[in-house]
Order: sequence, then structure tokens, then C-alpha cells
Amino acid sequence: MSNFEYIDAYTEGQLGIIVLNRPKVLNAINRKMVSEILSAMEEFEVDDRIRVIHISGNGRAFAAGADIDEMANDHAIDFELRNQFKDWDQLAMIKKPIIGSVQGFALGGGFELALCCDLLYASDDAEFGFPEVNLGVMPGAGGTQRLTKLVGKMKAMEWLFTGKIISAKESLQFGIVNQLFAKEILQEETMKIATYIAGQAPLSIRLIKESVNKAVDTSIEEGMQFERKNFYLLFSSEDQKEGMKAFQEKRKPIFKGK
Ligand code: CAA
Repeated sequence: MSNFEYIDAYTEGQLGIIVLNRPKVLNAINRKMVSEILSAMEEFEVDDRIRVIHISGNGRAFAAGADIDEMANDHAIDFELRNQFKDWDQLAMIKKPIIGSVQGFALGGGFELALCCDLLYASDDAEFGFPEVNLGVMPGAGGTQRLTKLVGKMKAMEWLFTGKIISAKESLQFGIVNQLFAKEILQEETMKIATYIAGQAPLSIRLIKESVNKAVDTSIEEGMQFERKNFYLLFSSEDQKEGMKAFQEKRKPIFKGK
């Protein structure tokens, strides 16, 4: 297994384990972390011993979003030229089942990463949300698309407009997560589920995953491209600079709508 800077990745029996590991910044997802997550998943994908991938976060968050410090000074054209979300697109191509285990915060890009999982479990104090609106931006890694497909337009609009925290209880109620567990047993329980699924017929699991995803939508690509251009566009606004600066300076932002 490769050595990574921002994640831990290892195998345990038939499971490929990924742990996001930047606990000091609540596992804020920088570009290198996404690329490492993808590399680890691709290693598991071609390893015949591995049947299920399990992903979780170290510390008090799954992940509190994309790394605001990394992107605060970015402009729309930077995103376009570096194809900012290309690794995210590849995550969605992984064929082995991915089980996510969320303790604490899953916000912004962290929530988007959770929504890339095929099964999702959370601690009963987990907190989900898309706070991008508070920064003068919007989700850019599939949030508007995947959340809407999962919970429908009205709830998605409400949560995306307000940026409000979705409690663990609500996440269960709206089908965002499969089940909640007490924080102390979350890891152990999700590993049991992962091990059970690893014992199922691998080809069945593979084709079930592909078929269910097909049912969700045949044109998510189109929606993602649309979302992406709008995400990039917001980085040419003054409000994005103000929103992220205010976060870094730990004060309330003053938005002007330009
Ligand atoms: N990026 C960079 N650093 C982050 C971060 C992020 N997304 N989230 C938290 N941190 C850092 C904080 O700056 C802080 O660092 P310092 O100790 O150096 O000050 C550290 O993590 C701990 O965070 P807090 O002190 O803020 O912890 P808290 O318990 O008071 O608050 C929180 C927790 C409510 C999650 C708060 O940290 C927060 O609001 N984080 C930002 C959430 C957010 O806006 N996420 C969306 C990012 S944009 C995005 O994800 C775009 C996309 O779709 C691709």
C-alpha cells in the first residue's frame, strides 16, 4: 500500500480501509487529499483480496468540507484550467462497494464525499450540512445533484439555501444514512456490515451497484458540469472573497451580492 500524507490506508482481511487524517483542521479536504483517496481506492479496486472499501475520518469530524484556506484566493479560471473536480469524478467510477462511517461533522465537501458512498452509517451526534452559502459560494463536488436526488427538491433547497445543520436524526429520517449508532460502537458496527457484504457474491455486488446507480440517473454528468460552472463562477465574486476571508478572520461576513 502506498504511503499517504493526508489519509491512512490499509487492508484488514477483505476490507480496504481509508481514514481521513487531518484532525487538526477537522479533515478539511485539500486537493492532495482527494487525489490520495482516489489513489487508495484505485489500489483497492485492483486488489483481488479486497471486496469492500470502508471510509471514515479521524478525530471529531468525518470532514468539515473542502479546505477553505486552499481555495480562498482561487479564481474561476484556476478551477477550469486545473479541472478542479476531476479526481472527484473518478471516485464515482469505483466499482467496489464503498461504505462510509460518519462521526461528527460531514459538511460541504465532506458531505459530498459521504454522498459518494454506497452505504452510509453515522454516529447519533453526526452533523451534516452544506454551509457553502455562508461563504458566498455553493457546493461544487456534486452536492446540489446528489442531495436533490436523495431527498427531493424542497428539502435540498431548504438545506442548501440556509446552510443549516442536518442532525443525525434528520439524516436518518430523510434517507441520507442507513442507520445510526452510538459514537462508541459506530466503527465496530460498520466494520461488521462491511465484513458481511464482503462475504456476498462479489460479481452480484458489483453489478447491483452499477444497476442501482443507473436507476438514480442516467445524466448526472450533465448536472455536475452545470453545477461546476456555477461553482467556478462564484469565485469571480467579491462575496466569495469576503465569505472566506471572514471565516479565516473568525467574523461574520458582509455580503453585497456582487
Ligand atoms: N477548511 C479549512 N479549515 C477548516 C475547515 C475548512 N473547511 N473547517 C474547519 N477548519 C479548521 C478551522 O479553521 C480551525 O483551524 P484553527 O484551529 O487553525 O483555527 C480548525 O479546523 C477547527 O475548527 P473550529 O475551531 O472552527 O472548530 P469549531 O468546533 O468551532 O467549528 C465547524 C466546527 C462548525 C465545522 C467550523 O470549523 C466550520 O464552520 N468549518 C467550515 C465548514 C464549511 O464552511 N465547509 C464548507 C467548505 S466549502 C466546500 O466544501 C466547497 C465544495 O463543495 C467543494
